[in-house]
Amino acid sequence: MSAKNPRVAVVGATGAVGREMLEVLAQRAFPASEVVPFASARSAGTKVEFNGGELTVRELKEDSFEGFDLALFSAGGSTSEKFAPLAAKAGCVVVDNSSAWRMDPACPLVVPEVNPKDLEWHKGIIANPNCSTIQMVVALKPLHDEAKIKRIVVSTYQAVSGTGQKAIVELETQVAKLMNGQEAECKVYPYQIAFNCLPQIDVFMDNGYTKEEMKMVNETRKIMGDDSIRVTATTVRVPVFYSHSESVNVETEQKLTVEQVRQLLAAAPGITVEDFPEKKIYPLAINAAGQDDVFVGRIREDESIENGINLWIVSDNIRKGAALNAVQIGEELIRRNLLRVPK
Ligand code: A2P
Repeated sequence: MSAKNPRVAVVGATGAVGREMLEVLAQRAFPASEVVPFASARSAGTKVEFNGGELTVRELKEDSFEGFDLALFSAGGSTSEKFAPLAAKAGCVVVDNSSAWRMDPACPLVVPEVNPKDLEWHKGIIANPNCSTIQMVVALKPLHDEAKIKRIVVSTYQAVSGTGQKAIVELETQVAKLMNGQEAECKVYPYQIAFNCLPQIDVFMDNGYTKEEMKMVNETRKIMGDDSIRVTATTVRVPVFYSHSESVNVETEQKLTVEQVRQLLAAAPGITVEDFPEKKIYPLAINAAGQDDVFVGRIREDESIENGINLWIVSDNIRKGAALNAVQIGEELIRRNLLRVPK
């Protein structure tokens, strides 16, 4: 094995994010000497597509990580809690897409466009942030650097793919059944998601917010490295397959004009500004699906306060919100010569 041409394990390779991780690794010609897909015992021996061919899925076991340099995890929190430390112990650096390690002070929480330097203090496990947080901080970092953000008010319109493959199937099935005059079955969400909006993502906390909403609050501060930023969020599941959309209001210390915001965002990495209201051009979930960038439009001054801006931020939640961000972390680790577990 070599840190420049690592052996890569994809854990959760049969899931919505895991499959996308394999696709992104191949598309970006990630310099892996070998890529191996892992999933539960249920999937052992099945095939997943990779780089025009197929790979055979292996069952994830405690000793699976021997000889691997990098593991990209997207197999749920409990799998990460158990297996990520075992991987790190075996000398394999973990990039984990679950929420298990995100707020652990020993684990960097990284978006490469925003805080790549945090990779320098990793101890073997690096957390990939929540999908709705990633796209928001990519768009807000250039504004924070220029004018210091004081407060963020965000409402999200989140695609079902964020819940995983089973939720994609649930929306498809419900639409087909309802269009044929049959009853919709609800297995994944508490209510029908077809033709509906659910103001609940994840479970409710004692303060009345959902876990997803509090992830946006806490993860934003950790990634931006600024606990003074005030964040309040309302997260909503909508009947969209791919791409999360977000209405974001920011209040800054210094004044930013709409033109300044457009220029700052257009010059920033990973962002495409789509903002020609007179031509009805603005970011759309169906256009962002399958794309890498974070798309920003509907840029307006908030006329109700001194220094406020409104934005509409859209990105593919499975790509930049999960698989792509994880692979970019892997690339950044190689570039910075950090693909090793410190002793
Ligand atoms: P499997 O298909 O064998 O159940 P999604 O988020 O789209 O539902 O995908 C979850 C992924 O996590 C799948 O690849 C799933 O594999 C994998 N997974 C779930 N539980 C485990 C486990 N205990 N060990 C390894 N992989 C797991």
